[in-house]
This record gives sequence, C-alpha cells and structure tokens, in this order.
Amino acid sequence: MKTRVDDFLPFLIDRFFYCIITRSFFIPSRPPFNYVQTMKRSSTIYLDHASGTNLLPEVKSRISEWLDSGIVNPSSIHQEGRRSAAELDEARTSIAEMLGCKSSEILFTSGATEANNLAILGTAEALRNKGLHIITCATEHPSVLESHKALEKNGFQVTYLNVDKNGDVDPEEFSARLTDDTILASFMWVNNETGLMHPIEELAQMAHKRGSRFHCDAVQAFGHIPMQMQNSGIDSLALSGHKLGAPAGIGVLYLRKGHTISRNSFGGSQEQNVRAGTQNHLGAKALATAIKYHVAHLDVNTKKYVELSEHIQNQLKELPGIQINRYGKQYTPNILSCSFKHVDGEALFIRLDMQNIAVSNGAACSSGSQSPSHVLTALGFDENLAQASLRISMGIETTRHEIDDFCRELKQIVTSIYREIK
Ligand SMILES: Cc1ncc(COP(=O)(O)O)c(C=O)c1O
Repeated sequence: MKTRVDDFLPFLIDRFFYCIITRSFFIPSRPPFNYVQTMKRSSTIYLDHASGTNLLPEVKSRISEWLDSGIVNPSSIHQEGRRSAAELDEARTSIAEMLGCKSSEILFTSGATEANNLAILGTAEALRNKGLHIITCATEHPSVLESHKALEKNGFQVTYLNVDKNGDVDPEEFSARLTDDTILASFMWVNNETGLMHPIEELAQMAHKRGSRFHCDAVQAFGHIPMQMQNSGIDSLALSGHKLGAPAGIGVLYLRKGHTISRNSFGGSQEQNVRAGTQNHLGAKALATAIKYHVAHLDVNTKKYVELSEHIQNQLKELPGIQINRYGKQYTPNILSCSFKHVDGEALFIRLDMQNIAVSNGAACSSGSQSPSHVLTALGFDENLAQASLRISMGIETTRHEIDDFCRELKQIVTSIYREIK
C-alpha cells in the first residue's frame, strides 16, 4: 500500500516544475482539497489548440520526405539552391492562391509575432512624414500592443480603443477617432481569448476612407472565416503556422502590392527586401500544405466545431457559478471562454492540470508573474473573475468523447471547490 508521502509526491514534483516554469512560488490559498483523489489521468485532454495545435496528418506524413530531399538555402545559386528556391516559390504561390492575392504579396516570417511587428513598425516608419497617429484596440495580442508601445516611445501617438462588455469595438467611435493624421489602424480578426470576431472589412473600409492603412492579425481567424485579400481593404495581414497544424517557427505576412513598409531587420535581401534572413523552407512547405487543408475543409470543420461548441455549452451551463462569456455576437465556434464566480482561479487551474487537462487560464504569464488577462479586464472583469476564467479551444482532432470527459472532470472539480468554500 502507498504511504501518504507517496500520494503527495506527484503533486510536489508537479508544483516544483510549475514554480520553475512560471517562476512563481504558489502556495494554495485554499489548502483543504484532497490531492490523493485528484491523481493524474493517464491521458491528456488537450483543449488548448488556440495556443498551439498538433501537426496536421497531411503535414506530418510529408515531413520526412521533405527532410530527405535536403535542407538547402534557397538563396544559394547552385542547382540544389535553385531547386530549394523553386519549392519555396511553389509554397508562396499556393498560399497566394488560397488567400486570393499575388505571390509577390506573400512574405515568410518566423511567425505571427514577427509579421505583426514588421507590418506595424514598418508601416509607421514608412509613413512617418504623412502623420503620426495610429489606432488599435485594447484587446489585441501582445505582439500588436507592444509594437504600438514601442512606436509611442518613438514619437507616434496611439489611440487604444476600448471595447464594450462583449469585447466589441464601436465602428462609429473608430470612425470618429480617425483623423487626417492617422496613418495606420490595426485590429485582430478574431480575439484569441474569447473567440469574438471583429467586423474587419467594415473597419478596413472606414480606415481607407480617411486615407489610413489597415493591418489585421488574422491568426485565430484563418480556417474559421473565408478570407480573400482582393477587395478586402486589408493592407497587411499576419498568420501563424503552429495554430494551423504546421510547426512553430513559420508565419506569413500578406503585404498588399503598393503598400511599402520600412524594413527593420538588416542583412540579406530575402522576402522582397523587407525581411532579412534565410527562409524556413521546410516550414513554408508545411504552412502551404496546412493553409490548403484549412481552405478545403472550412465548411466541414466549421460544422463540426459548431456541434461540439453547442455540446460543450449545454453541459457547462449546468455547472455552479459558471458564466459563459458569449453574448449572442459573432464568435468562432472553436474557442469558448467561461468564468467561475467566487472561485480561486489558480486552484481551479492547478486541479485541472493535476487531471492532465490542458486549457488556458485567464492569466497572462509574462515576466514570471501570472497577471490577469488584459483582454478580460478590458471587458470589465475584476481581477478574481479574470483569474477564474478558462479558455477552451478545440482543434481538428477534438472529439465528442474528449469533450464529455472534460465536462465530467470539470464538473467534479468545480463542485468540490464550491463544496469547500461554502
Ligand atoms: C491573435 C494572435 N496573434 C499573434 C500571435 C503570435 O503568434 P506566433 O506564436 O506565431 O508568434 C498569437 C499566438 O498566440 C495569437 O493568438
């Protein structure tokens, strides 16, 4: 028979690594839950696909073939280099076809963070003589918000539009804030924490009417919203490989022809002389394959996510203290945010983690501190409610069975927490 020390050992090991990873020293504020009862499940329930999703089978099955054909620098002028460059162009052309644009408008980057940085900093610098005003939104991804903060330090004035309690921006307010001095507006298509969609094409048209350029972070939208760049009004758009079933380390920046940006990396003249550095040739092939898959399966995957989302919501709405963060607006069906009133968010998250359930919590882990999510606080959540929030995000491999397991485990955890705090 196991001793109690043995029973606690997995928890202590887990906490040790948790503290190392988060660089925080969490001591549960509500100790009385029984770790023995919450021993780890043997299989993981993975509902964090918006953070990163597995390689698509279409990509996985071809990776070793691509590796076998050799990793050759596409800028080399020998035969092998030329073959590599041709393959890179093939990937570029395929992505351009899927996005309804020209292949010269597709630039490969290391991911969406770099694509957002390049577009925002590069547009501002290129248009500095025309104006110094820029507009974005309080609920954008840090790669967008931090780019704007860098611009503020560099003499630009940034308006951070607030959102209402649903997370919506008010297009009329946006229109009113555009001035002759506005050179750039930047909005995400789908929010990565709530799944809320912004009316991107309407906002882009408004920006253009006032002579401003428009950038869109479409990381969480691709594969869920049909996307054709021509006539969209979008001047630049960012995509990320590891959200789509390609490996991490590859992304795309769509840059409309005629929209010139300043470069902010220096070296070679790769990627239209905008992004220096040897391209991730293997990643580009994987991303082109993944993008093609998502375009071909948009309808069937959407249908599946809608069904799973309804299924999960029907079960979750029975849980004590739950608030499902959807307000009849437009959401992508693969992301669901929910919060638990009067619950210690960290304890909730740890119990889920102990059960091998991977979801995101309502905290942004930055500089080692678990601060409440800036998105949820912008929606008016207090610190506790934001911390006691979960983002459940599904991927193409998510099954109804996995959702049922998740709901059952979550119900047990939440019910036991409420029992303890009564
Ligand atoms: C909306 C959004 N934008 C940008 C990024 C950054 O993407 P990457 O990891 O490719 O840099 C993410 C990643 O989570 C995201 O969700």
